Amino acid sequence: MFDKAGEYPIIDIQKLSKSYKIGTGLVEALKGIDLKIYKGDSLAIMGASGSGKSTLLHLLGCLDTPTEGKYFLDQEDITTLSENQLAAIRAFKIGFVFQSFNLIAQLTVLENVAIPFLYQREESEAFVLEAITEALTRVGLSHRLHHHPSQLSGGEMQRVAIARALAIKPLLILADEPTGNLDSANGKAILNLFEELNAQGVTLVIVTHDPSVGARAKRLVKMQDGMIIEESRNIK
Ligand SMILES: Nc1ncnc2c1ncn2[C@@H]1O[C@H](COP(=O)(O)OP(=O)(O)O)[C@@H](O)[C@H]1O
Ligand SMILES: [Mg+2]
Repeated sequence: MFDKAGEYPIIDIQKLSKSYKIGTGLVEALKGIDLKIYKGDSLAIMGASGSGKSTLLHLLGCLDTPTEGKYFLDQEDITTLSENQLAAIRAFKIGFVFQSFNLIAQLTVLENVAIPFLYQREESEAFVLEAITEALTRVGLSHRLHHHPSQLSGGEMQRVAIARALAIKPLLILADEPTGNLDSANGKAILNLFEELNAQGVTLVIVTHDPSVGARAKRLVKMQDGMIIEESRNIK
C-alpha cells in the first residue's frame, strides 16, 4: 500500500509478530503487521489501550525484537542483529520522543541534547556543539541552552526532547504520546513544530490516542487487538 515507484522505504515490516509469555499463557501483542514507511512520511498510529501501539513502536525503534516476521530498517534486516548492533542503530538512526520527556534533571538543556552523542561517536566536539545548537534553534530554544529542565515549561521540555531526537539527524523520529503530558495550548504548539519539521523533510511516526493528532498526520494507521485494521491517507 502507498508504494512509490523507485523509492525504498525507510521501514519495511512484513508479518511482524510479538508475543509475551505470562506464566503459562501467551499474550499476542502484535499479530502479523505489514507496514512501509517512506522518507518524508508523517504517520500516526492510533487504537485503544492494549491494541499494540507501544509494542509496535518499541519494535520500530529497535528497543525490542519481534517473535516472528521481518523488519528492514534502511534496507537492513534488523531481526538478525545482536543487542550491540541494535544499540548502535538506536544511537545513530532513530530519534525518540516520549510522553514523559525523559530529560535528565541534573543536566542543562545543552547537555541533555548532547546525550545521544555519548554513544561511540567520532565527531569532533565542535561538530557536536554545532549539531546541538542547530537542533535547539530549530525547536526555538537557542536562548535556553544553560537552563535546567525544572526551569522550563512542559512544552519547552518536550522541545528539548525533540531537539535531542533531531540533533543526530536520524532516519526518522518515533514519538509515543508526545502531547500526553501537555495542556492543550502546549500540545498544539508541539504538533505545529512536528508539522513544520515534517515539511522540512523529517520523517515522523507518532503513537497517539488523540484524534486531533491523527488528523494532522499525512497517514493514519488504526490498530485493534494487535492488528492494523485500517489505513488511510489524510488529504491536505
Ligand atoms: N512487557 C510485556 N509483557 C507482557 N505483556 C505485555 C508487555 N507489553 C505489552 N503487553 C501486552 O501486550 C498488549 C499490547 O500492549 P501495548 O503495546 O502496550 O498496547 P498500547 O500501547 O496500544 O496500549 C497488551 O495486552 C499488553 O498487556
Ligand atoms: Mg501504549
